[in-house]
Amino acid sequence: MSTEIKKFKITIDGQTTEVMPGTSILEAARQIGGKSVPPAMCYYKPLESSGGRCRTCLVEVSKGSEADPRPMPKLVASCRTGVMDGMEVKNLTSEKTQEGRKAVTEFLLVNHPLDCPVCDQAGECHLQDLGYEHGVQATRTDFERRTFEPEDIGPYIKLHMNRCILCARCVLAANQLTEEREHGILFRGDHAEISTYLNKALDNDFIGNVIDVCPVGALTDRTARFASRVWFTKPMNASCSCGKCSGKAVLWMKGDEIVRVTARKDQYDEVEEWICNECRFDRKELSQWTIEGPRHISRHSVISLNHYQKPADEHTLLSNSHAKEISTADGQKTEN
Ligand code: SF4
Ligand code: FES
Repeated sequence: MSTEIKKFKITIDGQTTEVMPGTSILEAARQIGGKSVPPAMCYYKPLESSGGRCRTCLVEVSKGSEADPRPMPKLVASCRTGVMDGMEVKNLTSEKTQEGRKAVTEFLLVNHPLDCPVCDQAGECHLQDLGYEHGVQATRTDFERRTFEPEDIGPYIKLHMNRCILCARCVLAANQLTEEREHGILFRGDHAEISTYLNKALDNDFIGNVIDVCPVGALTDRTARFASRVWFTKPMNASCSCGKCSGKAVLWMKGDEIVRVTARKDQYDEVEEWICNECRFDRKELSQWTIEGPRHISRHSVISLNHYQKPADEHTLLSNSHAKEISTADGQKTEN
């Protein structure tokens, strides 16, 4: 006799859904979709045990559960906090959350250089998006940013350690996709850095995927370095018959030239299917691919807007009419 598992009800920004026990608040928010989904710089669904490191996904839990309706005293990391039955969460509608996210953004930018004009990740960078929505104009720190000796981690991947936010996605990807792990986070605290142990080059068949999971420009594609700004290229779905991976990729084209090859990603910028190094780095001829058609980039980013203009649905409470609507319907006082 099969026993039906009772789902948990959760309300996020006034929108209710039901999820299986064990689901995180972030995944529940993704089930609802839209503007209430918190940003995530370290959580990455396809990578086991990711999350809990960056704090960009903080949310306010205004009601713990039906059984214990007390609010949680502090903001919680939504990627690592499980849903309880009857829980109520505020993301977009919480000024506390927006303030918290602003503080986290400022913290992440303490050491991250503002070198977007020369960074290959510009236009696709999650920290750039976060800074754009929550960043402050000036820094409050007097200390110099961390600097590192340049390190060569192989012919295909360029490491800019000073851009790294230590989210550990690349370490998890290397651990989970390749047979041998050859790099990791060395040292602790302020001295922590991504490095290859004993300067061993990264040369596994699937190691190129660390480029796709890196939320910032710390790991970029050496074969496409400085070739074009991403917004000047056209993404096309393409496939090839590959013996190592599915061969389904996105070609970033400039005219007939393939500037860069990446895996296909969903609206949360998470890889749908991992691709091998050969497809990513060595297949740069059009004759090697079958073009399926243009790729729509659905994730919220400056690149999907195609211009640097503040998004109309900016994720802040005070200027967001949708947030006010929800707050009012919720019976909460809206600050304005
Ligand atoms: S190199 Fe990129 S993916 Fe790796 S820890 Fe740093 S920011 Fe994260
Ligand atoms: S995405 Fe939740 S802590 Fe980083």
